[in-house]
Amino acid sequence: MSTPNPQHARIRSLEGYHEAYHLSIHHPAEFWAAVAEPFTWRRKWDTVVDSDMAAGRNEWFAGARLNITENCLDRHLATRGNKLALIWEPNDPKERHLRLTYRELYQHVCQFANVLMNNGVEKGDRVCLYMPMIPELAIAVLACARIGAVHSVIFAGFSATAIADRVNDAQASLVITADGLNRGTKQIPVKRVVDEALETCPSVRKVVVVEHLGWPVQMDPERDVWYHEETDNAAKTCPAEEMKAEDPLFILYTSGSTGKPKGVVHSTAGYMVWADYTFRNVFQVEENDVYWCTADIGWVTGHSYLLYGPLLAGSTSLMFEGIPTYPDAGRFWEVIDKHSVSIFYTAPTAIRSLMAEPLDNVLSYSLDSLRVLGSVGEPINAEAWHWYNEHVGKGRCPIVDTWWQTETGGIMISALAGITPSVPARAGLPLPGVLPVLLNQDGSEIEGNDQEGYLAIKQSWPGMIRTTYGDHDRAVQTYFAPYPGYYFTGDGARRDENGLYRIIGRVDDVINVSGHRFGTAEIENAINENPNVVESAVVGFPHDVKGQGIYAYVICREGACRNEADMPRVEASIIETVVAEIGKIARPDKIQLVSGLPKTRSGKIMRRILRKVAEGETGNLGDTTTLLDPAVVDEIIRGAK
Ligand code: WT7
Repeated sequence: MSTPNPQHARIRSLEGYHEAYHLSIHHPAEFWAAVAEPFTWRRKWDTVVDSDMAAGRNEWFAGARLNITENCLDRHLATRGNKLALIWEPNDPKERHLRLTYRELYQHVCQFANVLMNNGVEKGDRVCLYMPMIPELAIAVLACARIGAVHSVIFAGFSATAIADRVNDAQASLVITADGLNRGTKQIPVKRVVDEALETCPSVRKVVVVEHLGWPVQMDPERDVWYHEETDNAAKTCPAEEMKAEDPLFILYTSGSTGKPKGVVHSTAGYMVWADYTFRNVFQVEENDVYWCTADIGWVTGHSYLLYGPLLAGSTSLMFEGIPTYPDAGRFWEVIDKHSVSIFYTAPTAIRSLMAEPLDNVLSYSLDSLRVLGSVGEPINAEAWHWYNEHVGKGRCPIVDTWWQTETGGIMISALAGITPSVPARAGLPLPGVLPVLLNQDGSEIEGNDQEGYLAIKQSWPGMIRTTYGDHDRAVQTYFAPYPGYYFTGDGARRDENGLYRIIGRVDDVINVSGHRFGTAEIENAINENPNVVESAVVGFPHDVKGQGIYAYVICREGACRNEADMPRVEASIIETVVAEIGKIARPDKIQLVSGLPKTRSGKIMRRILRKVAEGETGNLGDTTTLLDPAVVDEIIRGAK
């Protein structure tokens, strides 16, 4: 029996993987102590792990003191001060890109940390960020962490109402935003969206505004300050706040099967160790890699694998403001050649949208610098996998299909590039520290290979969710109570004949649209806000590019929709309501106006039937004997889109 050693911090062979895996499961404290050793700690831990899964209590490295930005920045200055930390590629390829070395990034972060303090932010305060993908976003996130403020990034596609919900739930005291953002040919006045949101957010005392587009904005003289004016006078050093291991690092709101998004809370030390460990091992990162994760920092992928993971590892991380199809569908590949990107991490939806374009868009770039490819957010279908492998990786780059969730903090099941098996339509083997199980509906474990069940995790891992902000019971009810002793993922999975995991998809009322999660109840709540609407039911349906699309069945108020000619207007108004309540990203793809919904005698909507109709599978609707009014189903089938 071997003992943990530094080699386990970086796996380099299949044998090494099995050895590390075994140790991590049977001797987690020894294993993770060895992995955590090289970080900068102000004080080391007393206990590596203390976990009571059934109670939803998980603590890692208790007793330790640290600041994650000392590990992302200060730690690298002596050896990597002049190495590029961040490369920023603008939306418009004709604009200049920007490069920041570790020393420069360190100075910017310190300066902005001082700005936050000058504007009254204290340790433990919550700061919300609603920003374009510009360097100031990365700097601001790290500046929060430097002073111990809890950051909560809100994806800049959410509506004013959605911002207000999140700001109020977190009781944020300061918001950081910009005058506007670029998305392909579109420009969006984000400051105006924030202004509208903050009308109902009394906790916010200050707003810091980045001048990005140079657009005129309304500045509230009591509340709003300019990023550049504040930073100009700020000192370029700022002592890092000493944090406890379990102090919250950030909140990130995510949707579940209930109507209201919840604030997933991640800790400081455990998250740090997990982000760094998973990043280095999954992508098999080397010192000279140029790494590009296309995710927005508004999602967890951007937190763990654009920002924290790469910076903790001392890597060069590329941040892209734009979209894959602007100015044309070759943009990703152009950026890869331009900056010699060696590791590329993107989403299946992006690959599928580019697959639909003429092949010349990718064939006209060399892509010689690429070494490793990654996929995240939803299952990557075999067709997309092969296209990615053949045309982007030229058959010589391992693909890692990384399964994880906002709640898991980092990658859980994935190939380690070039080391463990990478098979199309399989996420693969669990990472060290991850003990996945398949459960029957009754909670019993399914043994052996070639089996399917609910995916749950049986052992605590450093990066796991600690709580849901302001409501620990909700975390317990959602993740730990369904199957006591396990963390419940909400996904169904298959363990194939070789023990590789294939993620099938959600088993709860969550739909995954282009890798973004929405609760069906959340979209229904939004639709029901429309004055024309009495009731609605939302389901997902297979979508060629998005993975899943949103299909809404809607019952209108009497008189709201008297004839066919009224329909387009009513549908447009429903879409407008969803865009206002949640944002463009949650826009229904199809709306079907119905006079009734299929319900059981006890009044429960039979979503199974609605899903079948949305999928176009009306031949076999299964058991419909419990339906209150079978005629409703015939009408729905006739009107299906
Ligand atoms: C849900 C989590 C992972 C960070 C981005 C999304 C689905 C995610 C995969 C994958 C199959 C995947 C799952 C999961 N999912 N990655 N590689 N294969 N499904 O984070 O918004 O928290 O969504 O995305 O259904 O539960 P998220």
